[in-house]
Amino acid sequence: MDVNNNANNITNIFNKYLESKPIFIQRNALTISFTPETIPHREEQINTISKILAPALRGSKPSNIFIYGRTGTGKTCVTRFVCNHLEKAAESTGHKIKVIYINCKLKHSADTEYRLIAQILKEFNVEVPFTGLPTQKIYQMFYDVIDTEERIIILIIDEIDALIYRTGDEILYNITRINQELKKAKISIIGITNDLNLISKLDPRVKSSLNEEEIIFPPYNAIELIDILKQRAKIAFSDDAIEEGVIEKCAALAAQENGDARKALDLLRVAAELAEREGDSKVRLKHVDLAESKIDTDNILEIVRLQPKQSQAILYAICRLVKSNPQKSLNGNSQEIYTSDVIEQYIKICKEHRLKQLTTRRISDLIAELDLFGIISTRIISKGRYGRTRTITLNIPDHIYNKIEKFLEEIFNK
Ligand SMILES: Nc1ncnc2c1ncn2[C@@H]1O[C@H](COP(=O)(O)OP(=O)(O)OP(=O)(O)O)[C@@H](O)[C@H]1O
Ligand SMILES: [Mg+2]
Repeated sequence: MDVNNNANNITNIFNKYLESKPIFIQRNALTISFTPETIPHREEQINTISKILAPALRGSKPSNIFIYGRTGTGKTCVTRFVCNHLEKAAESTGHKIKVIYINCKLKHSADTEYRLIAQILKEFNVEVPFTGLPTQKIYQMFYDVIDTEERIIILIIDEIDALIYRTGDEILYNITRINQELKKAKISIIGITNDLNLISKLDPRVKSSLNEEEIIFPPYNAIELIDILKQRAKIAFSDDAIEEGVIEKCAALAAQENGDARKALDLLRVAAELAEREGDSKVRLKHVDLAESKIDTDNILEIVRLQPKQSQAILYAICRLVKSNPQKSLNGNSQEIYTSDVIEQYIKICKEHRLKQLTTRRISDLIAELDLFGIISTRIISKGRYGRTRTITLNIPDHIYNKIEKFLEEIFNK
């Protein structure tokens, strides 16, 4: 009986799906892998980068470029877009140009100087063992491989902050000096980051060589985001699939959040997926609300999920304190908790779950890290002659709090 019921249910769901008018005609137009054919509202940056790179078409080394701007402001897509055109333009000039793109945030792509060079060599079809050779030796291989002919190599190092935090900035110094070792080939670097403070943290030698040209990508405003979304929506959706105001709402929400085009596109895609799942023939304003809450929840849950067990224990301690406090504020969890209480609760959790208990100092470090992730906020308050203490507030919106709590309960009580 059960089996038949299941089969009927599935058939019903599939039939209902097939009978409804499709919302999407090209779903991938809203995903990150999609490259738009034109990039509105970035004319200035596109022109500047093109002018800086143009000398490569006559065999001269372009200046190094340092690009920065907040997340989702089009840095990666504009840079790749211009470089693709540059490679195409070079085909008819007789001068060779090779563009290499490395994203330092991708796992294992460039977490050490060795791996970065190995990764670049791979682009020239040279495989090197993942570890083992001395760094000097791998640099030598690198010079030998790229210096075989006259050419300009444009090396895009995206999310360069991740590389610097892992390896220090010595590596950039070495790379910017590579040209001195080369006879035929020349290499130009485009460094990209969304860490606006990075440049001030760099060693002055590195700064001056990497920063020959500096390009800033400002956040998009709501009107610009509307254009970007409309262009994608035209490709992604069938006619009349979106209710009036949906695009405007996605744009407004993303504009509030740092003018992030990725966020705007995500909102529209998730809203449409939710509408589709409900069997609705249109994406409506309510789907955008649902999408926003789903994206927030997913992001926060992901951060919590990826924390080490010890940080999760601290967070669990905070959640338990928030729950046990009878004077809940309206927002449910915006009360301030003393660090000393958190530590006491944390020790209890360690005992209950046979977790190694960290020192107070280490716990403080982990609390500071959770603050950096934005899940909690901490504040130092003075207790008069009793010295100073730190208070903690949980920064999780109400509708997500229960999910986080449930998640933590599950991992600690399984
Ligand atoms: N002006 C634009 N027109 C069309 N699509 C855009 C535009 N700007 C950004 N996008 C799209 O928004 C998404 C984010 O852009 P991109 O990846 O270039 O951002 P970013 O500045 O590199 O962000 P991050 O610092 O997080 O890496 C991509 O899917 C990209 O195609
Ligand atoms: Mg990027």
